[in-house]
Amino acid sequence: MEQLITKLRASLSEGRFIHSLGVAECASALAGRFGADAEKAYLAGLLHDCATALTPEEMLALALEAGLRTADEISQDPVADYHAALGAIVARRDYGINDPAILQAIAYHQIGGVPMTTLDVIVSLADAIEPSRRGEQIDAIREIAERDLLGAYLEKCRLYMTNILRSGRPLSLERVRVYNYLLTLR
Ligand SMILES: [Fe+2]
Ligand SMILES: [Fe+2]
Repeated sequence: MEQLITKLRASLSEGRFIHSLGVAECASALAGRFGADAEKAYLAGLLHDCATALTPEEMLALALEAGLRTADEISQDPVADYHAALGAIVARRDYGINDPAILQAIAYHQIGGVPMTTLDVIVSLADAIEPSRRGEQIDAIREIAERDLLGAYLEKCRLYMTNILRSGRPLSLERVRVYNYLLTLR
């Protein structure tokens, strides 16, 4: 684990590394609270943004090589949209992670997926509420996450979708599909 952390620290910006440590710790705490594997949650949290170490050119080349398409055909920022799916590829290739549950949690951390495991939800939620994320709305989600994992995650989805709509950017169809799926779990 120590080697992995050293390698990750060397590849990411300082801010992104601190965020990654925050997500790892937050995800592991959520896993303890909601009955998921805390070690897998920690590892997935730690590596969730590992693909952001790549240059945009490297990301696009790897995405092409892997036959990836973005979750959304109307995307205006393919590099940002690829980093989650590419994270799973980089975690396997550069960090030796072979556990499919960890790799899926990395791949799903940004938009989610259908279906989603508890581990997937935990890592994606931790990405939004780790300690360096600030704001009243984030605090409100943190508070719900004390007792209700799905409730907190639904609130995160609503907040992110609202922010995307308000900014005038296109809303990924996949986000809506994931949100509707999550509602059926209620
Ligand atoms: Fe990310
Ligand atoms: Fe992140």
